[in-house]
Formats: sequence, C-alpha cells, structure tokens
Amino acid sequence: MKVGLLASGGGSNVQALLDAGARGDLGPARIVVIGANVPGCGALDRAKIAGIPSFIVDHKRHGSRLDFDRAVVAELRAHEVELVVLAGFMRLLTPELLGAFPRRVINIHPALLPAFPGLHGQSQALRYGVKIAGCTVHFVDEGTDSGPIIAQSAVPVLDDDDDERLQLRILAEEHRLLPRVVRAIAEGRVTGDGRRVSVTGSLDDSTTRLRSL
Ligand code: GRF
Repeated sequence: MKVGLLASGGGSNVQALLDAGARGDLGPARIVVIGANVPGCGALDRAKIAGIPSFIVDHKRHGSRLDFDRAVVAELRAHEVELVVLAGFMRLLTPELLGAFPRRVINIHPALLPAFPGLHGQSQALRYGVKIAGCTVHFVDEGTDSGPIIAQSAVPVLDDDDDERLQLRILAEEHRLLPRVVRAIAEGRVTGDGRRVSVTGSLDDSTTRLRSL
C-alpha cells in the first residue's frame, strides 16, 4: 500500500514512520512521498535525508482551503498514494481531499480523544489535571480531531510534570503507535465503517495491554 505523509513541523512522527519502514516494520505499507505546507520545515529535511520524494503546498499561496486541498490531492495522486497519514499536519481538510481518499486519511493527536482536541492537547490535559494522558490515531473527518478512533495509547501524568516532560512522554507513545496502525491498515486488519473501529491482531499499545488485565 502506497502511503503519503503530510506534515507541518519538525517531523518526529515522520521520522518514526521512516525508521519503521527502514526496519521492515510497516509490513506492506511503503512511504512514497512526504508533503508539507510549511516551506523549510523539519519534515522536509527528513524526507531529503531518507531519499523520499517530497512536495510543498504552501497554504499562504492558495486563496482558499479548497484550492489548497486540490493542490495536495494532485500531488498525492501523482504518487498514486492510497493511504494519507497526517503526521503533525496543522490544517483542517475539506471534503475535496477527504472525498478523494475515503476512510483513507488518518491523523495522530497528542491526547486521549474526545478529550482535548485542537492545539496543544498535552498542555490542555496537564492544566485540566487528568492523571492519565496519551495519544490517539483516528480517521480524519471535517471536524477538529473528531473522526472515528482507531487506536489509543495511555501514559501517566506525574505530579512533577511540566508541559515539556508530558509532551515527550506522549510523543514517545505516538512514535510507537502510529507506525503500528499504518501497518495494521496496510495489512487489512482495521475494519468497521462507522464510529466503532476494530483492529485485529496486536498493536502492542496500551489498549492491548489493558485488555490482558
Ligand atoms: C505531534 O504531537 C502530533 O501528535 C501533533 O503534532 C505534533 C507533531 O510533532 N499532531 P512532529 O512534527 O511529528 O514532531
């Protein structure tokens, strides 16, 4: 399955996926292109170092979300992408892009949805005072982090956490979970067409660990 990554930032999740691919841990998933909307962002450097084709669609050069999404779809189609992974991609998508890849766009969010959607999920969780935080991989719909949940992984919130410590603990889980979900989708192990999504086989995430309790 040909996978396209979209990113806006440093790209540590992009790197985790590239590393998993290099180790052979993505199963039949193959990263064929990395796209970014922020010229010069770290994700593009990582693509270059890994020798993966990349593209930039700068949202500032596109008058509307629709125009922007059309340009992204054209790039993804040119690389025959079958699964789109938002790895730190800070844009809301229109039906133009979602319709081009029905139930084939996933996102990683640094909170246990539906709690703390939107920006800075980790800081929201810390300020709220939750004792368990984590990350979520979900299908993308038109809302903000509101699509059907595929998998989640939990981490404790410790008394002496600050934003950075909690963010790093969650990020480590993101790097574990996202490649496993990509592999599961490519292997046809993710099923369900409504909000209830099932993953057969192991993801080795905290959901799996909790099931065995
Ligand atoms: C991650 O925390 C991801 O969950 C969120 O944005 C951040 C991106 O980090 N959507 P990186 O660019 O992958 O390092």
